[in-house]
Amino acid sequence: MDAALITGASAGLGVVFAKRLAEQKQNLVLVARRKDKLEELAAELRKAHAITVVVAAADLSAPGAVAILMKKLAAHKISVTTLINNAGFTLHGLFADLDMARQQEMIDLNCAALVQLCHAVLPEMKTRGSGGILNVASTAAFQAGPRMAVYYATKAFILSFSEALHDEVKPWGIRVSCLCPGPTQTDIFTAAKISTIRLAKMAGKPEKVVADGLAALQRNQAFVVSGLHNKLLAQSTRFAPRAMTRWIAKSLQ
Ligand SMILES: NC(=O)c1ccc[n+]([C@@H]2O[C@H](COP(=O)([O-])OP(=O)(O)OC[C@H]3O[C@@H](n4cnc5c(N)ncnc54)[C@H](OP(=O)(O)O)[C@@H]3O)[C@@H](O)[C@H]2O)c1
Repeated sequence: MDAALITGASAGLGVVFAKRLAEQKQNLVLVARRKDKLEELAAELRKAHAITVVVAAADLSAPGAVAILMKKLAAHKISVTTLINNAGFTLHGLFADLDMARQQEMIDLNCAALVQLCHAVLPEMKTRGSGGILNVASTAAFQAGPRMAVYYATKAFILSFSEALHDEVKPWGIRVSCLCPGPTQTDIFTAAKISTIRLAKMAGKPEKVVADGLAALQRNQAFVVSGLHNKLLAQSTRFAPRAMTRWIAKSLQ
């Protein structure tokens, strides 16, 4: 069975990705830790769109999690034709004060699992001569972010990695795009206990972000910044002194 695999499908942007792809009649594999949330969404989408939806609860920051997930998919003869690498989280605070284990988890989820999933799905996509990967970064990718130092760095990693991968796999007919949303109304701020910071108050709608990401993947655009305001801010970092971009990022947090 061909399917789109969406990580972080239990909340926020991941739920919207799942709904949009289900409307396109794509079978889905939903991945996140909260199985109950995934099951609830899966039932809704199966009923509404008569598609197959597989729930694969996993903590993708755990060692070996991606390998276990891919083995399960292989056992069920599921081919990933579209990969939406969306799962991610942030922490707010000074790097030196934040728990190192949690920051390591962030690197393992935001970067390592994303890279491993890309590597796992590419051989079959290469054989087929088709496939799509959408990696979710952030406008945080464009500058350093004091008080969210590791998060911003993970997003810079995702953008850099995705752009390079975009060029590498293009000759095989595989599309790779990187979606860079600005602040968006999801659970990410409550999860990081920062729903009152200025960044959170600027948040836009997840539906627009997802539509921009899927459109970019469709036309194989290397990366897309969602929203005009965010596009201008991201572009401005190319010309502004780096100290100024750091100061702006810090003041928003
Ligand atoms: N919202 C924004 O302002 C914003 C802006 C720029 C970029 N982004 C990016 O957009 C992506 C989606 O975030 P969101 O805003 O939709 O956040 P969200 O509402 O907090 O959702 C995050 C998703 O990631 C999953 N997740 C977290 N830890 C996980 C783990 N260890 N293993 C597997 N899944 C895990 C969560 O599910 P479980 O808790 O069930 O595991 C949830 O489904 C992230 O990569 C984020 O960095 C968001």
